[in-house]
Amino acid sequence: MQELVRVELGERAYDICIGGGVLNKAGALIAPLLKRPRVAIVSDSHVASLHLKTLTSALDAEGITHSNLSLPQGEATKSWPFVQQVTEWLLAEKIERNDIVVAFGGGVIGDLVGFASSILRRGVRFVQIPTSLLAQVDSSVGGKTGINTPFGKNLIGAFHQPSLVLADINVLGTLTERDFLAGYGEVAKYGLLGDLGFFEWLEENGPKLAAGDAAARLEAVRRSVQMKADIVARDETEKGERALLNLGHTFCHALEAATGYSDRLLHGEGVAIGCALAFETSARLGLCSQEAPSRVRAHLKDMKMKSDISDISGELPDAAELMKLMMQDKKVSAGTLNFIMARDIGQAFVTSDIDHFTVKSVLTDALTKHP
Ligand SMILES: NC(=O)c1ccc[n+]([C@@H]2O[C@H](COP(=O)([O-])OP(=O)(O)OC[C@H]3O[C@@H](n4cnc5c(N)ncnc54)[C@H](O)[C@@H]3O)[C@@H](O)[C@H]2O)c1
Ligand SMILES: [Zn+2]
Repeated sequence: MQELVRVELGERAYDICIGGGVLNKAGALIAPLLKRPRVAIVSDSHVASLHLKTLTSALDAEGITHSNLSLPQGEATKSWPFVQQVTEWLLAEKIERNDIVVAFGGGVIGDLVGFASSILRRGVRFVQIPTSLLAQVDSSVGGKTGINTPFGKNLIGAFHQPSLVLADINVLGTLTERDFLAGYGEVAKYGLLGDLGFFEWLEENGPKLAAGDAAARLEAVRRSVQMKADIVARDETEKGERALLNLGHTFCHALEAATGYSDRLLHGEGVAIGCALAFETSARLGLCSQEAPSRVRAHLKDMKMKSDISDISGELPDAAELMKLMMQDKKVSAGTLNFIMARDIGQAFVTSDIDHFTVKSVLTDALTKHP
């Protein structure tokens, strides 16, 4: 089974192929884009050890030559030294303006290689082959690329749309349960922000999907990608609606900073907790019913996911400090923080008109439950 989602962006439009075994067809799917039969692949060493052979065999089958650069796995790779390494490697490999660079890995590789491609020779095309659930449903689609700096996450970057995205559901089978569930945080986010029907489907099929059901995984990735593709097509550079994709992320970014971007809290775990906090805040402000945050948490618990600040191990700063971290968010403009709040499950909206005392009280209460 294979599904196709198109991101309608005029001359920058592209396809996302989703399905089991898409990787085995990568050569045939990439071939039409090539001006000469040659690609450069950048992956992380872990993904390369598991899946690179499948990709290179698929390229060989179409007579496409390839070279590979494998980088260390982990968030620290999304940084300046690796931008230099990737771009200089691509130049040494004589990758030209018309060639294609392949980003083969999770969101770290996709963001780094997308950014390197955007500045190499003032922009070369790239193909995303996302291998983590998070990358398949979120980071590989939409053209946001970039790296982290000591000043914060994703602060250096560019909009650079890929020319093709290949999401093979089968490769998700080698993810650790924790990485898989972190990616699920972004899947649940789509239902929560704009599609009650999808959230209800997840309530029913989520556990099956986590257990490995291929049809359910395909459907979850397809619906997530379709939703992101539609939003990106309407608002590519986040002048409005695209901000809804940041549901839960302001809380998440503060918690990620508070835990030092360490493996105490993975990004997708922070998104899940952040979504629950956004619904809790919405309920306290009278924007949505009290049942909504309870239902969000119940589903996360059902999925055996972190659902509250109390699920994060170790020391955490107090609510005032977390508020400060929230104010450092990229979405602050002229000192005002835009929040994504919800009127109900599937009905998120952007507002800057939020009482900060309420947000602080939500955090204080959540921290009180922290052991
Ligand atoms: N550009 C965007 O729009 C966007 C959106 C969301 C997140 N992001 C970024 O994505 C990054 C997180 O992505 P991620 O969670 O994929 O992190 P990641 O790339 O670090 O991957 C997580 C771990 O999974 C491993 N892995 C990946 N695929 C695997 C597979 N098939 N089998 C076994 N192991 C596999 C990796 O080696 C890594 O250790 C963050 O840097 C975040 O900022 C970007
Ligand atoms: Zn995210």
